[in-house]
Amino acid sequence: MTVSTPAPPDLLSPAHVADPWPGLAVLRDHYPVHFDEGLGVWLISRYDDVRRLASLDIGDLLQELIGQYLGDAQAFFAMDGLDHRRRRALIAPVFARPSVQRFADQVDRHARALLDPIFERERQAVRAGERDRAEIDFVTEFTASFSANVMIQILDLPIPDHSRMTSWFSAWINAEGNISRDPQIIAAAQQAKDEFGEIILPVIRERRSGTGDDLISKLCRAELDGMRMSDGEIQSFVATMFLAGGETTDHQLGWAMYELASDPRIQQELAAEPELMTNLLAESMRYHAIIPFGSRLAPADFEVGGVAIEEGAQLAVMYSAANHDPRRFENPDTFDIHRTDVDPKKAFNGAAQHMGFGSGPHFCIGSHLTKAEMETALRVFLEHARDVRIADDANPAPDPASPFVRSLASLKLSFELV
Ligand code: HEM
Repeated sequence: MTVSTPAPPDLLSPAHVADPWPGLAVLRDHYPVHFDEGLGVWLISRYDDVRRLASLDIGDLLQELIGQYLGDAQAFFAMDGLDHRRRRALIAPVFARPSVQRFADQVDRHARALLDPIFERERQAVRAGERDRAEIDFVTEFTASFSANVMIQILDLPIPDHSRMTSWFSAWINAEGNISRDPQIIAAAQQAKDEFGEIILPVIRERRSGTGDDLISKLCRAELDGMRMSDGEIQSFVATMFLAGGETTDHQLGWAMYELASDPRIQQELAAEPELMTNLLAESMRYHAIIPFGSRLAPADFEVGGVAIEEGAQLAVMYSAANHDPRRFENPDTFDIHRTDVDPKKAFNGAAQHMGFGSGPHFCIGSHLTKAEMETALRVFLEHARDVRIADDANPAPDPASPFVRSLASLKLSFELV
């Protein structure tokens, strides 16, 4: 009997988005360096290759797909080399660990401002006999606003209307994955840029003359080669940080809660040993890499795993596949907060062994803020909730409309109020 080699997965298919792990195993085992005709990119899926190639340059693709719709300038995450390093250095200190510690009270306040009214609503509903156990949709009622609210405060943005914010985020995310250059997606991204510009450009102009300590004011005063940045470049910075911080931690938090609510043993262990929270968050970063891949450019003709790649070709370094590579992690498809091959203490800085925050020069700037937000949200929630379960009528699953960001559209929970 001959055993046929399975076909490589279609990364955009709903079946793959719903359960990516078997398809990613096929890639790693049979096609570790594979040209995806549909996406027009080389998929790199083994841990060691991803780690190495994540240090390559980004090239022009990200600017074309998304950067140009954030502001009238090259987005800094779509730059390479010295230009990238100098712009990154303007932002990174605001999100370094000591600075993030200064945001701790604000993060706590944002969590309570959203959760306290829900606890009160549920207390009354249980008291009135409307239900036996309290309920919440942790995603639609909490995470969808929480991280964005934190970013709005940190950036000091005058965003009056959250529904516009949500539509900008999806327009930009769709643009980032718009490999087919769909004109409707491009038009929506352009509209998001224009609408965001209408709000942010007057703020930039006003803060140019001030002495404020907020990030926008600092960017207004910053000089590169003795020159101030243009309004368009500052808009691009602000949109980048707003999107990168407002549309990531919320999804990661949803997954961490999904794991917590799915396994009563994790809740018991956390109650007995609260320090295990860091293990839970670290394992969630490994298991659920919500940004499945980063985009890179082949700098010259070169070979990976015996496969020849031509100069100028686009590569997708697949963080999600690398994080489930059995060559690096034992039983990678098992969610295990006690695994010894991920050090939780390093999981939120550049020494992380997982690649949920990427790797190389573009390693995530927001990793410390992410930890602070996730830790605070879960702590505040668990102050009032015990025996958290996925609600009986819920069927949480990755959002098939979102193949480029692994997210839950909804996470209905039931719990005992304390
Ligand atoms: C769970 C939450 C988050 C995840 C999973 C995440 C993931 C990532 C990944 C994978 C990259 C690298 C992309 C690549 O290799 O091309 C990245 C870069 C980046 N992240 Fe995050 N991120 C998160 C939260 C945040 C937050 C809260 C902020 C804002 C404070 C942020 C700001 C950025 C920026 C600005 C970059 C680009 C850095 C550069 O190009 O130098 N991220 N992030």
